[in-house]
Order: sequence, then C-alpha cells, then structure tokens
Amino acid sequence: MLPDTLTTQSKARSMRPTMLPVVTLLAVAPFANAQVALQPKAGAPLDGLTPAQLELFWAGHEAYSTPVTIAGGLGPIMNKSNCVSCHTNPIGGWGSIAVHHYGIEDKGEFMLLPGETQSLLQSLAISPGCAEVVPPEATVFVQRITNSSLAFGLIEAIPDAAIAANADGTDSNGDGISGRVHWVHLLEDPTGPLRAGRFGWKAQVASTLSFSGDASRNEMGLTNDLVPVENAPNGNTAILTQCDAVADPEDAPDSEGFRFIDRVTHFQRYLAQPPQTPKSGMTGEAVFNAIGCNACHVRDWTTSDSPSLETAIRNMAIKPYSDFLLHNMGGLGDGVQQGDADESEMRTPVLWNLRTRDPMLHTGAAAGGTFATRVTKAIELHGPFGEGAASAAAFMALGGTQKAQLISFLGSLGKLEFDLEPDHLVDSLDFPLFQACFATGSASPDTNCGVADINQDGLINMVDAHAFMQAYEGAQGTADCDGDGQSDLMEILLGAPDLDGNLTPDDCVGCVADFNADGQRNGADLAILLAAWGTDQADTNGDGVTNGVDLGTLLAGWGSCG
Ligand code: HEC
Ligand code: HEC
Repeated sequence: MLPDTLTTQSKARSMRPTMLPVVTLLAVAPFANAQVALQPKAGAPLDGLTPAQLELFWAGHEAYSTPVTIAGGLGPIMNKSNCVSCHTNPIGGWGSIAVHHYGIEDKGEFMLLPGETQSLLQSLAISPGCAEVVPPEATVFVQRITNSSLAFGLIEAIPDAAIAANADGTDSNGDGISGRVHWVHLLEDPTGPLRAGRFGWKAQVASTLSFSGDASRNEMGLTNDLVPVENAPNGNTAILTQCDAVADPEDAPDSEGFRFIDRVTHFQRYLAQPPQTPKSGMTGEAVFNAIGCNACHVRDWTTSDSPSLETAIRNMAIKPYSDFLLHNMGGLGDGVQQGDADESEMRTPVLWNLRTRDPMLHTGAAAGGTFATRVTKAIELHGPFGEGAASAAAFMALGGTQKAQLISFLGSLGKLEFDLEPDHLVDSLDFPLFQACFATGSASPDTNCGVADINQDGLINMVDAHAFMQAYEGAQGTADCDGDGQSDLMEILLGAPDLDGNLTPDDCVGCVADFNADGQRNGADLAILLAAWGTDQADTNGDGVTNGVDLGTLLAGWGSCG
C-alpha cells in the first residue's frame, strides 16, 4: 500500500515543485536571498512534516483514493466505493456530490422512520435486492453537499475551550447571534469526556478519526472498530443478513498495523490549510467585519501547544473563518435533528478556499455562474430569518463598490502566491503579469499585484522577484541559457529583451536546449530531454510539454553553444 520512495518524492514534487529547485536556485542565482516560506497549495501536505509523516500522508492519500472491494467490505449498501469519489476539489477537499438524509417531520420535529437507526440514505447497493429506498412515508428528504477535510489536523488541535469561548447561547451581548457548541463523544473514546464538535455541517464530529470511522461505514459500508455494525437497508436486518457476506469489523490492520481508518486519518490530518493572499490588509475584509460576517466566520485560531502533537500541527496560527459553532440559520436549516443539533441549526463553515467552491451551502443552492454570483446568492440566503439575517441584510444594503471589495476579499481566500492569472499554477501565464507588477514597483493588497507581494511590505521588488522564481513551476524557472548564473526569467525581468516572448532572452537563443548548462548541446542534453518526454521539464518553447518540437530545437543547435 505504501508508495515506494520514488513515487512519494515525485508526488511531493508535483504538488510542491518549489521544494526541489532549492539547490538549483542557489547554484544558479548568486543574488538569491534566503528562501522564503511559500504557502502550500490547497491539497498539499502541511509544511514541516517529517519524512516519516510525509510518507504516512502519501500512503493515506492512496488509501483515500483506492476503491474498497466487495470482498474487502464494501456495502452491502453505500454511497460510493472510495473517499475521493466525493472529496475531489482538491483530493480531500470539497465536492459537488450531495448525500441525502430522510425522515419524517412531525409538528416541526424531525424523526427517523420506524426501524431506522440513522437518517443518511445509502443510495447504492452491491446487488439490487439489497438496496435501500426512500420510503413514500418520508416527508423530509434533504441534501448535504460534500465539504472538506483540509487542515483537519490543525482544526482538530484547536482546544475545546477556545471554541467554547465564542459560544453565546443566551445572546448576552444582544447582537442577535448566539452560537452553541455541539458537545459530542469521540467514537474512539465513547465513555470519555464530551468534546467540542467541529466537523460536518452540524458540527456533529470532534475528531478526524471519528469522522473516518463514521464515513467508512456510512459512505462505503466498511465496518470498523469504531463503527462495527453494518447499516441494514431501511433498518431491515433480514435483508442485511442475506446481503452481507463479510464478517464485521471489515477494516483489518495492514502489514504495518494500520487500519484503513488510520490511513485516511493520517492523510486528512496532514493536509495543509489552503493559502491566502494577500495575507492581510484588504479593504474587503474591513467590510466583512463591519457588516458582522466575522461574528460567526471567525478568522484567527491557534492550535494547542500540547507536546503530544506533531511539530507541524502544534501551536500554529490559522485563519479558517469559522467559529465551529451551531447557529439557528432560519430557512437555511436542513430540517434534520442530528445529535444535539436541531432542525434549524447549522455549523459555520470555514471560508478558506471558498474561491473554488461550486456549489456553496449545504443545499448546493448557490451554484454555477461566477464566483461573485455564487457568493452573493450564498450571502442572501443567510436571511431573512435566523442569526445570519442582519448581516445578509447589511450586505444587500451595501453599494456596488463595497460589495465588489467584499467579494474580492472572499476570492482571495485560497489564492496561491504569485498566481496572478488565477489557475492554481505559477507559470508562464503569470510571468508577464508579474513583470508588470515589478515594473510598477508597488502593490496594494486590493490590487491583483497584491498576491505577488510576498513579504507584505507594499513593494514589489527583488525580494518578491526571488520568491517568484522560487514559486515558478516548470522548466523555465531555472533555465539559464548563457550559463552566467542568473536565470533567464530573472534576466528578462531585469530588462533583457524577450520580444518573441519565449521566456529566453533574445540574445541567447543559441543556447536553448542546453539543459545541463555546460555550454554544449550534446548526448547528455538528449538524454535529459528523452527522460523528460511528455512533461514540462525540458520544454524549450514554453508550451508546457517536452516533445518533438523541443527535440528539433536541440538537434538544430547540436554542438557548442558559443
Ligand atoms: C458519497 C459521497 C462521499 C463519500 C464517498 C465520502 N464522503 Fe466525506 N463527506 C460527504 C458529505 C456529503 C459530507 C458532509 C456530511 C455532513 O456534514 O453531514 C462529508 C463530510 C466529511 C468530513 C467532514 C468535513 C468537514 O469539513 O466537516 C470528513 C472528515 C469526511 N467526509 C471524510 C470522508 C472519508 C474519510 C471518506 C472515505 C472513507 C469519505 N468522507 C467519503 C460525502 C462523502
Ligand atoms: C450567524 C452566523 C453567520 C453569519 C453572521 C454569517 N454566516 Fe456565513 N454561514 C453561516 C452558516 C451556518 C453557513 C452554512 C449554511 C448552510 O449551508 O447551511 C454559512 C455559509 C456561508 C457561505 C457558504 C460557504 C460554503 O462552504 O458553502 C458563505 C460564502 C458565507 N457564509 C459568507 C458569509 C458572509 C460574507 C457573511 C456576512 C455577510 C456571513 N457569511 C455571515 C453562518 C454565518
């Protein structure tokens, strides 16, 4: 199940290409400043994991992505066969697939149908005779969109007391907002103390391992030590007995002693928090605070400094923009009673990485269109009743400029440093934009250049230029056609003409394809090119792929560069 070391490294590289060029950068750029800490991409592992932890992350990533087989315990009823089928954006993150809950409503109260033990529908079955169906008596049938496990180690490490400190059940300060902690038991410690729930649309779970146990049984039918009893289709144990051939618990330890639920827990706990650029100072955030969004979407948290935690998780400052509390959301409630959370109560979701979320809200009602239309819809649906109503009304009363500032701030959450052309890559499309920012020399957090101001000093200068080179993904980032120790990109940035825009200075075209920068284009470069075939690693013309065109360039220039 463990990927070999090579695979692990190449995966790490594909997620964080900035980690490997360190050596190259220092070698070719004598002017380079110290390496700056770039924020990890959404879906990448936490910074500062040990090699052993990184290996657990990738092994967990694989378990998370590998379908469970029927012989391995899938079903008899389930929603999918692996976690990644739903948590796609990025892997471990949000998704557009919804699951359904059903039951009956009686005088405003949610109840399970007779014989049922839970409200979640398992919509698939290993054979038709085993299927669960929504009975005609069900009067409640609601959906919940897939939310994300990013940074779960960090969120898990927020002390209960810190979450409870924001709770204001009686609305003692009279602001119309009265969040409540959803106190729950851990599945791994069912008789232990109650813990502050924080995961799930209703804050119904307090630990990553609990969610792994719950999701394995409920989404995939994989019974485990934490949730050892199989779901019976519509509560019918006779059908269950016929359909379930695998003895429970189905999730057995692997050769290293880890269960499936441990593996996927490693992965989720070591997922990094999404980046945020600019890190602070946007006018839109002031608007966000002024209209009361921050009463629930609380920005700042610090993880516990317990010595039992990994260094990468311990005592970290994070900005999830959630209070992890339950709020009476009026019409946005889902009508389901779950644990101690009632029909109208929902947990404030994190807003980091909102920019890629489509659909938004548990119902998925804010979907399609542009980011601005989705966000506007999501905010409007916070009213007209419930604790979010006042801030929704305040938003609707804003003028166009302030609305745009707020939306631009929300769009900055999850934006990668230097991703000026926002496609989640720092590449040749971003270079001309960075050049323009560099030429201007300054950047306000409210402008697009704000994402290129790595140290937030208001200037776009050599510090940012070096960091841009470090963040750059793809071969040109370190290409140095004249072998003078300064990368081509840096030379162009500092004024070397590149009229054809191929990211190689025009006066240096003769040395294109000298991949090892030894002043010769020869068999060694050919070997590099062939090894890089199909990737962007020996791409001479900036089209993102190493192919026959690049081979032609190498052959045409065969011999000494001089
Ligand atoms: C059929 C789609 C689907 C599959 C498969 C699935 N999930 Fe989920 N996941 C969801 C939905 C929907 C939610 C929101 C559930 C809720 O809050 O009621 C969710 C929520 C979560 C959360 C809480 C996220 C948050 O931000 O609070 C975790 C953790 C999680 N899933 C882990 C897993 C793991 C681990 C697996 C594989 C064992 C898995 N999921 C498989 C759909 C899925
Ligand atoms: C009373 C607490 C509260 C306040 C105030 C509040 N929100 Fe929310 N917000 C929530 C809850 C709870 C949800 C989840 C609702 C649901 O889908 O059931 C949510 C959902 C969202 C979402 C969708 C997120 C997603 O993952 O789908 C966005 C965007 C959002 N809020 C932005 C805002 C903005 C902007 C403001 C200020 C105008 C604001 N919220 C004010 C509690 C609040």
